[in-house]
Amino acid sequence: MNPSPSLDLKFVRSCFPAFAQELPARTAFFENAGGSYVAGAVLDALTHFYTANKVQPYGASEICAAAGEQMDRGRQVTADLLGVPAETLTLGPSTTQNINTLAVACAAIVDAHAKVIVSEQDHEANIGAWERLCRRTGAEFVLWEVDKQSGELSLSRFRELLDAQVKLVCVTHSSNIIGSVNLVEEVTALARKHGARVVIDGVSYAPHRWPDIAALQPDAYCFSAYKTYATHLGVLYTAPDFAESLDPQCHYFNRDFLQKRLDAAGPDHASIAALAGLGEYFAASHRHHFGESAAPPHEKAQAVSALMHRHENELCAPLLEALREMPYQIIGRNDMRGREANIALFSEKHSSAELSAALAHEDIAAGHGHFYAKRLLDSVGLRDSEDGVLRISFSHYNSAEEVERVIAVLCGVG
Ligand SMILES: Cc1ncc(COP(=O)(O)O)c(C=O)c1O
Repeated sequence: MNPSPSLDLKFVRSCFPAFAQELPARTAFFENAGGSYVAGAVLDALTHFYTANKVQPYGASEICAAAGEQMDRGRQVTADLLGVPAETLTLGPSTTQNINTLAVACAAIVDAHAKVIVSEQDHEANIGAWERLCRRTGAEFVLWEVDKQSGELSLSRFRELLDAQVKLVCVTHSSNIIGSVNLVEEVTALARKHGARVVIDGVSYAPHRWPDIAALQPDAYCFSAYKTYATHLGVLYTAPDFAESLDPQCHYFNRDFLQKRLDAAGPDHASIAALAGLGEYFAASHRHHFGESAAPPHEKAQAVSALMHRHENELCAPLLEALREMPYQIIGRNDMRGREANIALFSEKHSSAELSAALAHEDIAAGHGHFYAKRLLDSVGLRDSEDGVLRISFSHYNSAEEVERVIAVLCGVG
């Protein structure tokens, strides 16, 4: 067995129906931070639910019982991939909704004497909900500002903001604009010393590196399954002692069920059932790359994700190298150290909309704008945060040939 094989792109693409329509696929898809292609195993599970079991789940009849079993399986598979108990996961409609519900529930642990630290680098989903919580409770909203040049967060600034009044710290694992990875382990350890809870937004991190929640042990961690090759759901992990300290947002008779405490919406049955396909995708990829193994799903997911991550980084490095020679400004780090393959750039000569259109003309999908991290772009002084940056966001199914096409277009536009 090769302990560190390369990612087999042909195999990967065979697992995604998006590539089956046209081989080799012409559209180069670099909009992945917005939402990824969906793995075939997920689509199969979704179709199966809709065709065989689209009924009220959990009943005495065989068909209702089967629907419930499929939903339980989707939840359990996701929990196993993350290495956490199934009841610690809330499977809501989106991360925006999950964080909003979590913030409302946090009124139980925040009062007018409390402070809530929120990073300016975050997507608005992990800022606005906390600002509203502070307005309602009288707590102090403390913005952990980014560096005005680089858009980066610094731990030394975080240390200055921390004190005994801080009850919550809300920070992104990786920026959805500049791709930098934040030291959430250190943030969590420092916050704990002051008795504060930590809410980590992993939406932009999880598609590049499957989160190791079991190792990280945050108070809350969220990501969006529709960006990790699955259905349109927000996955929210909450540590049991944290969830139990909060004001439940479910129907009163469901309060004793940990997995329902933060579920303010009714579950999307089919989308939850389809998560079982994500487990199949990781398992098939592990088998393909490493051979048969009795390792637990969580270890397999980490091993496969490491291959994906290396592949993306190997593709992204030449793009950054080429960009360093071109008349574009990269926001964030201009090499692969401490970042994910998610590049934000702008030009003095062209609007970001023009850059995006030039790429689209060559059948390359890469969007522009502030991607709801508007405060970050305003803080680094971008002239027009609505036009924003051109974002080139990789997934593990991208190819070197696609990157060459991106480089050629950007070089031509100049
Ligand atoms: C970093 C980050 N956080 C949160 C969100 C919100 O996720 P959702 O679309 O599931 O509400 C996004 C969406 O793009 C994001 O990129």
